[in-house]
Amino acid sequence: MDFIDLKTQYRRIKPSVDARIHQVLDHGAYVMGPEVTELEQVLAKYVGNKHCVSVASGTDALMIALMALDIGPGDEVITAPFTFFASAEVIALVGATPVFVDVDPRTYNLDPAQLEAAITPRTKAVMPVSLYGQCADFDAINAIACRHNLPVVEDAAQSFGATYKGRKSGALSLIGATSFFPSKPLGAYGDGGALFTDDDRLAKLMREIRLHGQDRRYHHPRLGLTGRLDSIQAAVLLAKMEIFDDEVAARIRLGARYSELLRAAFADKPDAIRIPYIEPFNTCVYAQYTIEVASRDIFETRMKALGVPTAIHYPIALHLQPVFAHLGLREGHFPVSEAAASRVISLPMHPYLTEEQQAEVVAAVREAVG
Ligand SMILES: Cc1ncc(COP(=O)(O)O)c(C=O)c1O
Repeated sequence: MDFIDLKTQYRRIKPSVDARIHQVLDHGAYVMGPEVTELEQVLAKYVGNKHCVSVASGTDALMIALMALDIGPGDEVITAPFTFFASAEVIALVGATPVFVDVDPRTYNLDPAQLEAAITPRTKAVMPVSLYGQCADFDAINAIACRHNLPVVEDAAQSFGATYKGRKSGALSLIGATSFFPSKPLGAYGDGGALFTDDDRLAKLMREIRLHGQDRRYHHPRLGLTGRLDSIQAAVLLAKMEIFDDEVAARIRLGARYSELLRAAFADKPDAIRIPYIEPFNTCVYAQYTIEVASRDIFETRMKALGVPTAIHYPIALHLQPVFAHLGLREGHFPVSEAAASRVISLPMHPYLTEEQQAEVVAAVREAVG
C-alpha cells in the first residue's frame, strides 16, 4: 500500500497530461509559456479571486507575499508553531521575526482567541496555516487583524480545494498562498505554487517579484526571485484540474469514511485515539488524514510491521527548531502544539484509496494501538 498513490491518478489522466506536456515540448516556450497564463485563469476562477500569480513553489509563494507587503528586518509576522517549517522559514528569510500563536487543540489551526495578545507595534502581518486541508477560522482572524490594520496571508499549501463557510481556501484573506508539491491535493510533477488576491496593486507587485523585481525588461525597482512556474508544470496542473472537483469529492468522502470506520473500531475505547475534528462550516481536503495516539513510537513500529505506511506531520513544533533558538522560546511555551507534535501520525490518504485498503488501515490501527 502506498502512503500517497500518484501512479493511479497518472493512469487516469495520462492521455490529457501527455498531450499537454507534448504541446509544451513542441512550442518550446518552457518558461512563461501559454499554459502558465491559461492555468492562472483557471485557478483564479476556481478559487474566486480576481488574480492568480503562479510561482515556483509554495515556499516562494509565501515569501513573495511577504516581500510584496514590504516586510523585512525589525518586523514581526504571526504564524502557528505547529506546521511545516516553511511557514516560519519565509518570515526569517525576509529578515523579519516569526511570532508564534498556539493552535486550537481540535483543528490544529492558529487559535484566534490567542491572537490579539501576540500583536505588538512591530507586527506587520498575520499568516495562519490551514493545516492538513482544513481552513483556519478566517472570519475571526480577519476581524482581529482588521482592528489592528494588519494584512492576513493564508498559508493554503495543504488546503487547496477546501472550503470555509462556502468560500474557497486561498480566497479567505488579502492574499492566499498555495503549494503544488506533488503530494499536495493539487500536485504538479515537480515544484510549484500560486498566489491569490483581489488586490490589483499586490498582484502586480507579486508578478514583478517572481521575475527579479522587474517592472519592464531589465529595469528593477525592487529585488525579486527566479520564482516562476515552469510551463510543463502548468500543463500538468491544467490536466489535473479537469478531474480536481471529482478528487476533492473523493477526499471528503474517504476522510469521512476513515472517521466512521475508526469510530466503530474503537467503540469500546474511544479515548485510545483522536480522529480529525472538522468544523461544521468547513470542508476538509485531507492533505493528511492525521490521528493522535498516546504511544506513537510503538504505534509507528507496529504499523510498519503490519505493512501500513505512516508519516509524522510534524514531530517538532517550530519554536523548538534549532534555527529559532535565538528567539528564546522553550518547551512549555506552546503546549498545544508541543502535545500535538508528540502524538500525531498520518495514515495513507489519497483520492484513489479503496474501501478494502481503508478497512485494512483501520484494522492495523486497532491492532497497533492494542
Ligand atoms: C503548510 C505548508 N506551508 C508551506 C509549504 C511549502 O510548500 P513547497 O514545498 O511547495 O515549497 C508546505 C509544503 O510542504 C506546507 O505544507
